[in-house]
Amino acid sequence: MTALAGRVALVTGAGRRVGRAIALALGAQGMRVVVHYNASAEGARETARLIVQSGAQASTVQADLADVSACERLVDDTVREQRELFLLVNSAAIMMRTPIGSVSRRDWDEMYAINVRAPFFIAQRAAPALREVRGNVVNIADLAAFESWTTYVPHGMTKAALVQMTRSLAHALAPEVRVNAVAPGTVLLPEGFDPAQADHLRRTTPLGRLGSPEDVAQAVVYLATADYVTGEVIRVDGGRHIRT
Ligand SMILES: NC(=O)c1ccc[n+]([C@@H]2O[C@H](COP(=O)([O-])OP(=O)(O)OC[C@H]3O[C@@H](n4cnc5c(N)ncnc54)[C@H](OP(=O)(O)O)[C@@H]3O)[C@@H](O)[C@H]2O)c1
Repeated sequence: MTALAGRVALVTGAGRRVGRAIALALGAQGMRVVVHYNASAEGARETARLIVQSGAQASTVQADLADVSACERLVDDTVREQRELFLLVNSAAIMMRTPIGSVSRRDWDEMYAINVRAPFFIAQRAAPALREVRGNVVNIADLAAFESWTTYVPHGMTKAALVQMTRSLAHALAPEVRVNAVAPGTVLLPEGFDPAQADHLRRTTPLGRLGSPEDVAQAVVYLATADYVTGEVIRVDGGRHIRT
């Protein structure tokens, strides 16, 4: 039995990639995992199936997080059906390559809606339920929050906002609810990523490899159980942030 066993976790964007790895890691801790998805219905069912196969409980729930009411409904449905919420993991996000000169108002609004507004409104709605069980929130940020990536300026800005939200919410919801974040470096390349660029990334990472979704999931499990840690951001980046 782990400290998380039997508790309820809601993981957004858990139908694929990093969100799925987080959901599986929480399932491996014996948590009852609510697997959120938007378009990846089949992927979400597969995540839930893998969790159930490992001996834990899981269910799936669809919500388009561009809609604030859907964000709030997601929390309400979770709490009504599961009767508690112990851990909220805000992992769903969008990352767009937006060189300066090409940024449209529409891209800007979409990035802010999913990467900043949704995590805030989900956390705000979840706060009473989290308070009741002295639960916690883990936001999945990005190393881009701390660096200047010239072709991803708005993306970095959204993730910096998420880091600030982590600190402020941690203060606002203390002492009952802890709020932390994980800031991954490259842990899973987008499809079609240039192999030469991937190799460059690998060679310039102090630990000599790209990360994996499981590296991020491990940090989430740590934060979910770290009773004296709040307002913290753990970089899971193979040491990229110590290069300069
Ligand atoms: N991959 C990396 O190397 C890396 C590095 C640093 C930080 N991160 C962070 O880690 C998290 C996961 O990364 P990833 O690479 O797995 O991302 P991804 O493959 O782009 O997946 C994005 C997730 O967000 C969900 N999502 C997007 N738009 C949504 C909407 N309108 N409503 C609801 N959900 C929506 C997607 O759900 P559906 O598929 O169901 O639509 C999907 O599960 C993100 O916060 C990302 O910024 C990743």
